Amino acid sequence: RALFQPERENSRGWDLTAVDQLAEFDAGRNAYREGHWSAGPILAGEAEGEETLRVTNPADPADVVGEVVMSSKADVETAISHARRWQAPASTRGAALRKAADLYEEHAHEFFALVAREAGKTPKDAIAELREAVDFLRYYAARGEELKDPARGTFACISPWNFPLAIFTGQVAAALAAGNAVIAKPAESTPLVAALGVRLMHEAGVPREALQLLPGAGRVVGAAITSDPRIAGVCFTGSTETAIGIDRAMAANMDPTAPLIAETGGLNAMIVDSTALPEQAVRDIVNSAFQSAGQRCSALRMLYLQEDIAERFLEMLKGAAEEMGIGDPWAHSTDVGPVIDARAEKGIVDHVEKARAEGRLMWQLETPEKGFYVGPALIRLNGIEELEREIFGPVLHVATFKSHEIDDVIDAVNATGYGLTFGLHTRIDERVEHVTRRVHVGNLYVNRNQIGAIVGSQPFGGEGLSGTGPKAGGPRYVARFTEPTRIPSLA
Ligand code: SER
Repeated sequence: RALFQPERENSRGWDLTAVDQLAEFDAGRNAYREGHWSAGPILAGEAEGEETLRVTNPADPADVVGEVVMSSKADVETAISHARRWQAPASTRGAALRKAADLYEEHAHEFFALVAREAGKTPKDAIAELREAVDFLRYYAARGEELKDPARGTFACISPWNFPLAIFTGQVAAALAAGNAVIAKPAESTPLVAALGVRLMHEAGVPREALQLLPGAGRVVGAAITSDPRIAGVCFTGSTETAIGIDRAMAANMDPTAPLIAETGGLNAMIVDSTALPEQAVRDIVNSAFQSAGQRCSALRMLYLQEDIAERFLEMLKGAAEEMGIGDPWAHSTDVGPVIDARAEKGIVDHVEKARAEGRLMWQLETPEKGFYVGPALIRLNGIEELEREIFGPVLHVATFKSHEIDDVIDAVNATGYGLTFGLHTRIDERVEHVTRRVHVGNLYVNRNQIGAIVGSQPFGGEGLSGTGPKAGGPRYVARFTEPTRIPSLA
């Protein structure tokens, strides 16, 4: 019971089915339709900067959202040498992080516009993104106040573009709540939203020496902050491959006790058996596979349908998927926005085209021409072992299984080595228990979708190649950013 804090309240967000909230959302966000933002190194010392790059809208590359001044090697040095632990009492740190949560909510409309234009987020995704960021600030503020162990020093926080506000803020807030200094490197494609977040955290009272921002290239900034002996730990969300590289760089250059807290990829599966409620399963599959254009590490990639129901079920699934709106993420009618950039688009399209050439493409929604879009697709496979890599986009693979093969399915899923999310649709209670015991994943969802873990109630993170833990939004996360006391207290 202590783990789940029933008294805690999550951000309420916005209900766009309520006419007044919809009107307020539109009016507020429209003020930023033509907005222009800028980002650059935000340091406790003098910033130098390197080249300035334009930040454009993945739905319309002609829409320039702002500019970013990339950090130079000298900026990295300035950040590391000026970083100072946040020495204030935990209650003061907590108060500042809560104040930052309030400021985030006050700037909601600006964030909604910015994540739509910089990251291609639909209104639903934008609201979820802000809610999660605000939840992280408040939840980690409270967890930091419960800790006894001291901060470690300076943390490098390296965040992804798919949750440019929520994950960026979560990493930073956790490290700060524990009293560390943070040097944050946002994803190359989404520096603007990160810069706004940092400005608001400073305004809320986080000292500049405790929080510095280094937008820039992975090979300049990322490489430097993950191999400097003055860095006490790294928090990273992104690909498994990059995490392994960071792990090696840390091992070669840093204190051997410096932690790497990594949330990485997944090959997430769902089983739908013949007792499942089809309407419910279809809705949850569409959300899990295609919401956020499939650009969530939690997203469903591999659907297993029990053979007896597969044919009829697939007709329903295609029918529902056919109704999705794909296009401008600004529009309320859009369910599937763009993927992040040309490179992402090409990688996903190549995968779909290969399936088409092999006669395995079962269905695809028409793809808009302008912008970086991939029409959601269904691809037939014999099993997850044929899925060579995580396809980070709106592509769902489908296989069938016979009732007696369910353990083989779970074993194949386990054998991928990843273990992030798993979905199960069934009305057999013993099956829920059996699958729960057998499958090795961080987050298992029964008779619901498998994305959108809620901070504080559904700690999120994987096993094996999917991450190191502890789970984000869970009770043990912030403690990992402290130096564990070596001699247990007798008190
Ligand atoms: N935490 C997100 C989710 O649960 C994924 O990053 O969907």
